[in-house]
Amino acid sequence: MCDGVPLAAIATAVGTPVYVYSAALLRDRYRAFDEAFGGYPHALHYALKANSTLAIARLLRDLGSAVDANSVWEIEVARRAGFEPRQIVFTGVGKSPAELECAVALGVKAINVESAGELARLEALAAKLARTVRFAIRINPDIDAKSHPHISTGLRINKFGVPLDEARALLRTAAARQRLSLVALHVHVGSQITSLDPLRRAASLAADVSADLLRQGFQLEYVDLGGGLGVSYDGGAAPSIAEYVGALVEEIRRTSLPIVLEPGRSIAAPAGVLLARVIDVKPRDASSDFAIIDAGMTELLRPALYNAYHAIEPISTPGASPTEPASAPPDREPLRRAGTDATRLYEVVGPVCESSDVVGRDRTLPVLSPDDVVAIRDAGAYGSAMASNYNRRPLPAEVLVDGGEWRVIRRRQTIDDQLALET
Ligand code: LLP
Repeated sequence: MCDGVPLAAIATAVGTPVYVYSAALLRDRYRAFDEAFGGYPHALHYALKANSTLAIARLLRDLGSAVDANSVWEIEVARRAGFEPRQIVFTGVGKSPAELECAVALGVKAINVESAGELARLEALAAKLARTVRFAIRINPDIDAKSHPHISTGLRINKFGVPLDEARALLRTAAARQRLSLVALHVHVGSQITSLDPLRRAASLAADVSADLLRQGFQLEYVDLGGGLGVSYDGGAAPSIAEYVGALVEEIRRTSLPIVLEPGRSIAAPAGVLLARVIDVKPRDASSDFAIIDAGMTELLRPALYNAYHAIEPISTPGASPTEPASAPPDREPLRRAGTDATRLYEVVGPVCESSDVVGRDRTLPVLSPDDVVAIRDAGAYGSAMASNYNRRPLPAEVLVDGGEWRVIRRRQTIDDQLALET
């Protein structure tokens, strides 16, 4: 069930694969952040990259959220979702000249600058457009977030940000640049971080450097601590939102600066599941089977890309016939339907032509048969947002459950949608 609505009913009505989100959980997670600050001044800039489906962006806007956009296209989505320019921070390691120009013309809250070259380009743009540009400088603190190497960003060897010594040198010249206004320091050391230590150290460094800059006369407005709080995908330990925010406030309080956060995953991940239908079950080895489902790396890339774990659970499919699947090999333990207490070891795989297209490795699950529906959990962030058309597979449908009702917030892509772009 999702907030009183049977997932099986959604799978039947909309088809699979389909993402289903809980509006209640999205609101709970957002409010948990907001409330954790107590009275401490802050702004939450939800990271659109985690999930920028319009209805979700709008839901968060209605709660008072602002956004972090990572491309001009995310800025455009933010605008269409009703966010004001001053509610947008623009991050990204490779903002094109056209993207920068759009952000400058729009007058976003801050452009988070990632290099000396980018700052120079911004200055030229500011002159061309006769605007003053509000910017933050993203420092690379050389802190190991100890997350997956693909999503750790705070080490000097990572492409992100400006090393601290360089940033200090750069800022010495910033005061003299008429059209550039430094409004904050920005730091983001990675994503899916499950220990507070690197997050706290990054915040502490940002506090030290911000305090220095204040002493030098820079009129900083806030400190931007990025996103990064991990969630527990596998039941392992992860800090709570309250512990995370509490630690950050403790570090930043000495500067008296408001805190900007850019949470993505920690708001959206637990609020979404991906529903997929079992297409086929076939023997793998003596002790396990392949369960081939109609969602794979095209719908949820995380397992293939990061070897990420997502819990998988069959959902009951009312009316499913409790018969033996026709494919049950004769020499093996008889297979029984989900709903009995029999379990089996599965490699849960997608339909894509890649051996890396595995959704769940070595999962002991209730016995599965073709047509059963499974829910892949914690897929609300970096799920639909990273989907692709590989093998010409259509982008999946998305459904929002709110107050016991559900509605399609993105219809399934059709082949005509895909081919409309082609000559
Ligand atoms: N701010 C900046 C500058 C970021 O680069 C990111 C994420 C966030 C905020 C949001 O971080 P979060 O709160 O979600 O950890 N595709 C990967 C995650 C990539 C994260 C990239 N940056 C995954 O599926 O795990």
